[in-house]
Amino acid sequence: MDLETIWPPFALTVRTQDMDLTPVRESDYCELADLARGGVRNDGIQAFLVDWDSGSPEEIARSIAQYQWGTRANFRTDEWTIEFTVRVSGRIVGVQGVNSTSFLKTRAISTGSWLAREEQGKGYGTRMRSMIVTAFAEHFSTTTFETAYVEDNHASRRVSEKVGYSPNSSRVTVTQDGEAHTEHRMILRADDIRVPDAPVNVDGVNAFRQFLGLDPS
Ligand SMILES: CC(C)(COP(=O)(O)OP(=O)(O)OC[C@H]1O[C@@H](n2cnc3c(N)ncnc32)[C@H](O)[C@@H]1OP(=O)(O)O)[C@@H](O)C(=O)NCCC(=O)NCCS
Repeated sequence: MDLETIWPPFALTVRTQDMDLTPVRESDYCELADLARGGVRNDGIQAFLVDWDSGSPEEIARSIAQYQWGTRANFRTDEWTIEFTVRVSGRIVGVQGVNSTSFLKTRAISTGSWLAREEQGKGYGTRMRSMIVTAFAEHFSTTTFETAYVEDNHASRRVSEKVGYSPNSSRVTVTQDGEAHTEHRMILRADDIRVPDAPVNVDGVNAFRQFLGLDPS
């Protein structure tokens, strides 16, 4: 038996032109840790609720590895997270995450992402979000997409706006600096997705639909 049979997400690839997204594997951890060394945020902005990108290179690396192991260990069809390694021309640039609770009933997913600091501002964040929402709308019966950004994270807000999301609500929450900040939520219906310029190709659809419980196995 091969690993893709044991764990069907590993057979999934979402591809457009020179960019491809594949579920994070253990063999990606070292490269991801190198990319995140020194943190992934500019100017101390608040991007995450958990402070995983502060600390020594070893602490950041362990945090990434432990989190990624946890997503697989804790996968349940009613509560899951799948994180995708993002590559441009074969080079790892960051991570696009997707999570859902009660997916078979809600058909809703939430997203989060990060890019190496030197890879930000090149349009990759918009492309990878646009690819993942298009793939989930077209192949995995998803009708609603949610996301959130903390006040002053303008890049994250703009990515969501460019893909078609609208403001949904806001709340005050404690973020990675341990202080209270306003978090803005955004929502996108599948019909409102701003379709990417190039077609999004997805491999491994049938096995992943069965794995999510969308189709009988
Ligand atoms: C958020 C993130 C994924 C966005 O990806 P990106 O590749 O940098 O963004 P893009 O290049 O696709 O740019 C998207 C838009 O944001 C704008 N933008 C980018 N950086 C910006 C900044 N610092 N201030 C204001 N606008 C910014 C771009 O100009 C573009 O908008 P425009 O087309 O209207 O000009 C990336 O910046 C990142 O990893 N940031 C750190 C971690 C993080 O914040 N993750 C998100 C947590 S919710």
